[in-house]
Amino acid sequence: MKNKPLIIAIDGYSSCGKSTFAKAIARWLHYIHIDSGAMYRAVTLFALENGLFRNDKLDTKQLISLLPQISIEFRKNPDNGETETYLNGKNVEKDIRSIEVSNKVSEVSRIREVREYLVRLQRLHAGKGGVVMDGRDIGTVVFPQADIKIFMTASPEVRAMRRYKEMLGKGDHGTYEEVLENVKKRDRIDTTRKISPLRKADDALVLDNSDMTVAEQMEWIKDIIRKKLNEEEKDEA
Ligand code: DC
Repeated sequence: MKNKPLIIAIDGYSSCGKSTFAKAIARWLHYIHIDSGAMYRAVTLFALENGLFRNDKLDTKQLISLLPQISIEFRKNPDNGETETYLNGKNVEKDIRSIEVSNKVSEVSRIREVREYLVRLQRLHAGKGGVVMDGRDIGTVVFPQADIKIFMTASPEVRAMRRYKEMLGKGDHGTYEEVLENVKKRDRIDTTRKISPLRKADDALVLDNSDMTVAEQMEWIKDIIRKKLNEEEKDEA
């Protein structure tokens, strides 16, 4: 497709499969995929590695003062074609998914200065388009002018079961009830925080994938993208 490169924003609840979906769309369109959650996770890892959490309490002031020292990049792994996150030149793709980071990331992502810093980086990374970015505030704050906005959702029970199975696969411990509690807690934090809470943009399309396979989701979005690109072509003619 030779049309103007689009900006596709995907927001939604945690464990909805946003990144899997965003990756698949990016692969289909030969676009780049940016997982904005990975950036909040990378800043959290930086805070942990630099001792900014003392007795479980984050030194917000110091983190803000160190933000200019945090460089986050995405590089493609030539072996599997996957995009991986680098923090100050080091591959941290695995480390940012640890339970420790998951438990602390909400605290970091509610700091205004952190968000402003990362939103600037997200816009820089996206360049002139040809990007699929997923997160919580992409369609509302980062790219309010995005060409296509999707708001993903699935029932808490379905999301908890998906995460629980993932955990079992990795050999992690925990019960389904604990995971369900954690999913509900994260929903509450994401939707009620003061700055950039998770909410559906007025012009976003809702995708409830509780009972959908990734292939079905792809059929749905391909149709939307084709229509969008056709509209663009007509507008240019
Ligand atoms: O999508 P995720 O679970 O990897 O995101 C990690 C955390 O970052 C999550 O607590 C929400 C936060 N986040 C955010 O506040 N804004 C974004 N655009 C993306 C993620």
